[in-house]
Amino acid sequence: EKGGHDYFMLKEIAEQPQAIADTLLGRLSERGEIVLDEVRLTDQDLRDVDKIFIVACGTSYHAGMVAKYAIEHWVRIPCEVELASEFRYRDPILDRSTLVVAISQSGESMDTLMALRHAKEQKARVLAICNTNGSTIPRESDAVLYTHGGPEIAVASTKAFLTQLVACYLIGLHLAQIRGVMYADEVAAVVEKLQQTPDSLRTLLGRMEEVRELARDLKTASTVLFIGRHVGYPVALEGALKLKELAYMHAEGFAAGELKHGPIALIDEGTPVVCVVPSPAGRGVMRDKVVSNIQEVRARGARTIVIAEEGDEDVRAFADHLIPVPATPTLLAPLMTTVPLQVLACEIAAARGHDVDQPRNLAKSVTVE
Ligand code: F6R
Repeated sequence: EKGGHDYFMLKEIAEQPQAIADTLLGRLSERGEIVLDEVRLTDQDLRDVDKIFIVACGTSYHAGMVAKYAIEHWVRIPCEVELASEFRYRDPILDRSTLVVAISQSGESMDTLMALRHAKEQKARVLAICNTNGSTIPRESDAVLYTHGGPEIAVASTKAFLTQLVACYLIGLHLAQIRGVMYADEVAAVVEKLQQTPDSLRTLLGRMEEVRELARDLKTASTVLFIGRHVGYPVALEGALKLKELAYMHAEGFAAGELKHGPIALIDEGTPVVCVVPSPAGRGVMRDKVVSNIQEVRARGARTIVIAEEGDEDVRAFADHLIPVPATPTLLAPLMTTVPLQVLACEIAAARGHDVDQPRNLAKSVTVE
């Protein structure tokens, strides 16, 4: 049942290329337009949206953080991401022209459900991104876009996360198109890049042996830090979350630029720091900034584990371990850069002798607030 893998988690990591392909399937019309047929909001409803809130928990919240970058860049409407458990207590300003996107793998997280109910009471439109057909969150939403990840058995979310990213990209592109901020051919160009990601991911998954070796090395570390910028920041948070929940190790993710405002004091001789480097193409400035952040931590003794686009040879000089990932446009890069971090956490947990699929104190769906 684990398809030859030691854990469900490894099986689900391996299924990610297919999960992405399945989530993309049938969603591009012959005219190059995105079709979101399960979305029961009219195009006019979506044109009237003037603000977007994304609410979610845990890993799904990290998908929402990535979505914010993509949606604001493509759609040009303000988009906020909020932890579902905090949303309603803050009395957010919501009305008919607010779109609230609730992201949930299980469709049963109570925090997300309560945030959604609050949004509906305030007359906001609610769109769910969900992996579980007929679960409570999509049932109570005005519209739903299902991720076709297939059942996720391991408690730690992997393939659901990548398919949530895909769903968020599709929603962003769809909104951009119907609001006239992107032309069909521009949308089609991004979709084409999305369609290439399953193959790139297969290549990447074929090269995880080094990550496994690294995991055996890191299993005794007392803390592991993760840094990233732009969409690499939520990836850093996700890498740290995976390590906490599976390996029961102290791990923290930071926005690379925040290091010098405090966390850099944590760096000691040999502290492992995982650095998610943006692509040198497009926004080279951002990449250069992260490279100088890597130099800063290294100068203070950090052991650097660098995730960078293949061919980015300049980073090699600052990397104690280099994990190259296939080239992908900046906004789509989390579909690649997250994967070595999933494998790393899984392998460190296994090396420490933990039950990877059933970490202590955790449940697959959290139905209490
Ligand atoms: C992390 C993890 C959790 C869930 C969170 C939300 O690996 O699995 O952080 O992401 O509990 O769950 P859903 O998406 O089902 O609402």
